[in-house]
Amino acid sequence: MEVVIAPTADEVGRLAAAKVAQVCRSTAETGRTPVLGVATGSSPLGLYASLAPWINRHRDIMRDASAFALDEYVGLPKDHPESYASVIARTVTEPFGLDPSRVHVPDGSADDLNAAAQAFEDAITAAGGVDVQILGIGSNGHIGFNEPGSSFGSRTRVKTLTEQTRRDNQRFFDSLDAVPTHCLTQGLGTIMDARHVVLVAQGAAKADAIAALVEGPVTASCPASILQFHRHATIVITDDAASGLTAAAHNHYQLDNLPEVQRWTHELE
Ligand code: GLP
Repeated sequence: MEVVIAPTADEVGRLAAAKVAQVCRSTAETGRTPVLGVATGSSPLGLYASLAPWINRHRDIMRDASAFALDEYVGLPKDHPESYASVIARTVTEPFGLDPSRVHVPDGSADDLNAAAQAFEDAITAAGGVDVQILGIGSNGHIGFNEPGSSFGSRTRVKTLTEQTRRDNQRFFDSLDAVPTHCLTQGLGTIMDARHVVLVAQGAAKADAIAALVEGPVTASCPASILQFHRHATIVITDDAASGLTAAAHNHYQLDNLPEVQRWTHELE
């Protein structure tokens, strides 16, 4: 696991975007079209802002790129401004100039949610799998909407949101009652199948979750801790989000001394 600590949220966005760009470039070099895994929430917005100009400059690499969202609320109409279909359209599809028919969000309005979950898994498989999955992290350590206790082998399915997650997301709705209670989310097994993952976090409110993810035991009580088993996980965080880490000094040292073969931090320049 590669842990990158930056002084500002802007720098987190730039470094994380550079990592995503590097994966897209190396994917294209193998002759494949990049497949992005994209997340909602405020954490990846800086990454998206830094990545959009790179994508627009590299149409040769990204012209036919596709994207898969992590999750969707159950029972919210797709055209609701806070549905993840709407959020992904605003924050990813439009600024990246992606073909909307290549951007997939689980269908939380389907009559048969199990079939919708399977169709989403099948679409990822048909696209050849996700090359780089962008992630935020919930304050309780969730990724996607995989709340504590989620199975490490899980695939896309219906989950019940914890009250804490609903309270965290209340800011997007008129009241707590208006926040949906259920979701369709990629499973931890689905996320682990991505060839690379890039997780971003900013702010002291995420420090405990980041410490549990990076240095805690691997446990379903902190679903993100499964990323300790991922072959190519990059965690890009601000100093305050890293404040619970005991190895922060080494992480700084490592980034300052990246061997040429691992250099990616200047990809966007
Ligand atoms: C939601 C999303 C997650 C996201 C989390 C954190 O629960 N399903 O994908 O990581 O919120 O959101 P934020 O980045 O706004 O803190």
